[in-house]
Amino acid sequence: MKFKNIRYLALVFGIGASVQGEGASTKQTITFSEHIAPIVFENCTSCHRPNEAAPFSLMNYRDVQKRGELIITVIEDQYMPPWHARSKDYEFQGHRGLSEKEIALIGEWVDSGMAEGDLSKVPALPKFTEGWQLGVPDLVISMKDGYPLYAEGPDIYRNFVIPLDLDEDRWIQAIEFRPGKRSIVHHSLFYYDTTGEARKRDAEDPVPGFKRMASAEKSGSIGGWAVGGIPRKLPDGLAYHLPKGSDIILSTHFHPSGKEETELSIVGLYFSKEPPKQRFTGIQLPPAFGALAGVNIPAGESNYTKKDSFVLPVDVKAFGISSHAHYLGKRMKMTATLPDGELKELLTIDDWDFSWQEQYRYEDYVFLPAGTRLDGEVVWDNSEDNINNPNTPPKRVAWGRESDDEMGSVTLQMVAANPSEFGRLRKEIRNHTAEASRKARAARFSRGRQAGQEGNRGEILKRIVDRFDKDGDGILSTAERETARKALDR
Ligand code: HEC
Repeated sequence: MKFKNIRYLALVFGIGASVQGEGASTKQTITFSEHIAPIVFENCTSCHRPNEAAPFSLMNYRDVQKRGELIITVIEDQYMPPWHARSKDYEFQGHRGLSEKEIALIGEWVDSGMAEGDLSKVPALPKFTEGWQLGVPDLVISMKDGYPLYAEGPDIYRNFVIPLDLDEDRWIQAIEFRPGKRSIVHHSLFYYDTTGEARKRDAEDPVPGFKRMASAEKSGSIGGWAVGGIPRKLPDGLAYHLPKGSDIILSTHFHPSGKEETELSIVGLYFSKEPPKQRFTGIQLPPAFGALAGVNIPAGESNYTKKDSFVLPVDVKAFGISSHAHYLGKRMKMTATLPDGELKELLTIDDWDFSWQEQYRYEDYVFLPAGTRLDGEVVWDNSEDNINNPNTPPKRVAWGRESDDEMGSVTLQMVAANPSEFGRLRKEIRNHTAEASRKARAARFSRGRQAGQEGNRGEILKRIVDRFDKDGDGILSTAERETARKALDR
């Protein structure tokens, strides 16, 4: 965590617990009622209230006063309010953050003994929308059965199928996800399945949901939700296509809370009346969440980096950006180099936090002309210094779907500025993925041949053990061998 010593700013801004007036005797005291409550209610209470994501409420003097020291630490470190996206060139919707002045003011208040002040001056709590944030959905669906989660143990990924049985294609403008137990649901990614495979997998597994999702079951991706996420409609009537007969899959990540809980998520779907006039797409750098980029991070490596670029074939208007990695993720970045050489910052995340997988939306469309080069970069930290590293001591981690494997990419969502050029945009993006796939195959082949030529079976075996030895005991257990066999068969 970065530490920013911001308290000195109090002096610069002339704010103090005892600001001297004209006469030495007129002191203005910073009080909760007048100065602190408005900042807390505006910036913290949306999550810090009952039935929301945060573990305690910040709704009155007592709530705030008893955590004064902790609060000043987390706001100076910019750990709270949680916000990870940065761009010097573009604004994001729903940005969360305190100004330096507000941080300094809270610091002064804490240092000066946290006066309560005149209770009648406490502002009213903001009016929060209870229930559906986007109004009554067109269709409300929910998990069939509750999923029981233990009190303690590793995080769990689980996929839940919700059959829709729609008899015609629909267009989704927004999905509002409402976790049953906010204390255990970290994030959920949404897919649809037209093959019936996911239903089958769910039925085969005696516990609600199923574990691993093969790519065949994900016919398409339709967004996601993370703690703190605010549901939003896509801009300008854009919509996700939902083919008739699709099942919805919620791919949910759980973090046990210390108490046994049962999760029953509810989902509201908002459809558009008619098909959208325009389609949108995303470019992922590197593609397939890094599956083709040969992610394989040595133990102790603190700056493992993968980069990928893509040159836009047509003018586009970007509207959203998101990134993905697991616990070892450290930094992500996407920049745009315009044809005239100007460099624009689309997204920087310097302090990736696995818990906040947000999908950021730009305040206005970002216009990027044909010939713009997009550069994506993901950096992982597999050293002991990464406090989120699940392995002590660190061990080699390769690409995979489980949360203790790694993934990584940055995704920019866009429309073609000229809708007639959308086909070309999508084709070039597909080519880019196909090319990455071809290179990955070639690299695997040459590594295998090299090892073979050296007659070095030992080397190959060692690599296989390194990669699949999850418990790090130096040998492959039956389960690990099974995973290895499946992965190498692919
Ligand atoms: C978008 C939701 C959200 C907002 C807004 C938010 N918090 Fe939090 N806060 C959380 C969650 C979730 C946790 C618990 C998980 C964690 O620590 O990341 C938390 C934890 C905390 C903690 C405990 C940290 C610890 O290490 O134990 C403090 C203190 C805190 N928040 C203060 C604040 C303050 C002060 C604000 C406003 C300036 C604020 N939060 C705004 C969601 C939020």
